[in-house]
Amino acid sequence: MDTRTVTTPLDLPADHPGTSDAAYRARRAAIAAVGEAHRPGDPIPEVAYAPEEDAVWGTVARELAALHEDLAIDAYRQGVARLALPTDRVPQLAAVSARLTDLTGWAITPVPGLVPTRTFYGSLADRRFMSTQYIRHHSVPFYTPEPDVVHELVGHANALAEPRLAALYEQSGRAARRCGSDAALAAFSRVFWFSLEFGVLREAGVLRAYGAGLLSSYGEIQVFRRAQVRPLDVRAMATTDYDITQYQPVLFAADSFAHAEDVLATFFTGWDDDAHARLMAFPPGRSSHPAEGGAPRAR
Ligand SMILES: [Fe+2]
Repeated sequence: MDTRTVTTPLDLPADHPGTSDAAYRARRAAIAAVGEAHRPGDPIPEVAYAPEEDAVWGTVARELAALHEDLAIDAYRQGVARLALPTDRVPQLAAVSARLTDLTGWAITPVPGLVPTRTFYGSLADRRFMSTQYIRHHSVPFYTPEPDVVHELVGHANALAEPRLAALYEQSGRAARRCGSDAALAAFSRVFWFSLEFGVLREAGVLRAYGAGLLSSYGEIQVFRRAQVRPLDVRAMATTDYDITQYQPVLFAADSFAHAEDVLATFFTGWDDDAHARLMAFPPGRSSHPAEGGAPRAR
């Protein structure tokens, strides 16, 4: 997810359901240690998940798959079919990474938890996705306040298995790498948030999700159509703050997948400190800035 900060493997958000569960905390730390010890180029060690962890994965994966039939865009569902994640056990990152490499040239790097923003986004330029391996607390299988293996694999890995979505992720990483200033990176990260994390678009006459945050959230994916839906507008996205602890009250919708690709690819490929300065200098409410591209906008 976005807004990544450095934490130790034992840090848990105050509202995490596992905060008062010592066994869960120890388990999460042990799995995080696998990511902590991993070095680039090393094979990804397997994690021996417990039956209750496999059960959490199975419950969430099956329920989300049913919801995706109507609520996820076609390209994402193609990625789901190509990656073919198991539904009876937590997938091993090593196996998912190998499959992604065969499909689209992507690979997964295990990490112990949240990593610095520049590191996380920058790795996307190399077609490397940094992923946690621990899973949410079993008491609430449909909720997690932090990215876990469900979010990473259901939300992101499935998308990375589809070539057009995978290309957008890589372009976003290249954009992040060109950001010299923290302000440019922050603006970029907001666009990432409102697209590859919480993006929606119209397909077959209905609003569907392509953002990993929506696609991996059992609760939010069922209500996102009730959000305030605004036209795709990278300037508005780059300057709109968000709260990661609540369902998103505002979403930005493309008119089609091709429209999203056009606008986002143009934004990502042109983004740097100068583009940021131009975007911030441009009066709000207008949409013809070069950084937004020339995509047609039916409103
Ligand atoms: Fe994410």
